Amino acid sequence: MDQATSNADIDRVVVTAPEIQARIAELAVLVEKDYADKNLLVIGILKGAVMTMADFVRQLNIHVEMDWMAVTSYGSGTKSSGVVRILKDLDRDITGRNVLIVEDIVDTGLTLSWLKSNLQSRGTNSVEILTMLRKPEAAKVDVQVKYVGFDIPNEFVVGYGLDYNEKYRNLDYIGILAKHIYS
Ligand code: PRP
Repeated sequence: MDQATSNADIDRVVVTAPEIQARIAELAVLVEKDYADKNLLVIGILKGAVMTMADFVRQLNIHVEMDWMAVTSYGSGTKSSGVVRILKDLDRDITGRNVLIVEDIVDTGLTLSWLKSNLQSRGTNSVEILTMLRKPEAAKVDVQVKYVGFDIPNEFVVGYGLDYNEKYRNLDYIGILAKHIYS
């Protein structure tokens, strides 16, 4: 879907498609240096991270393995309760591995904080995080993120994997959803 198709639903573009791709290329260079000869395992968190994962790994010029997890928050009905349930676990044992979690967004930080601890408890050698977006003003816990695409304001953003009611994930840019769509 191109920008013209969806502009009525989007108040403002926060990160354009070319900006996303340029930043991913920069992050890939950093990751290549940090993980040369380290048998990197990249773990994408479904569903939002699909776009970031697909574009990021294609920029990597080192050997990399990929796996996927799906998680959801539950309990209070709000998505950031901090109590996380695994819907789809990894396919393989990750003991001794150097893991890079790939996410679309760190919002409150609760999901990533839980995920990082969970993967560390499996006997990994290292666990780091790469996220396309981070909302510093929304942080409820301090989670160390080694690779950040963009810090953005605390607004309701969609696109490039991020959804509202499962829509807008396929936008190739990130924008603020117009309020009339969800109010
Ligand atoms: C999003 C995102 C993170 C989490 C971040 O996933 O992909 O996993 O929320 O929020 P937090 O920092 O407040 O914990 P979501 O639950 O929307 O699932 P999805 O990726 O399938 O859309």
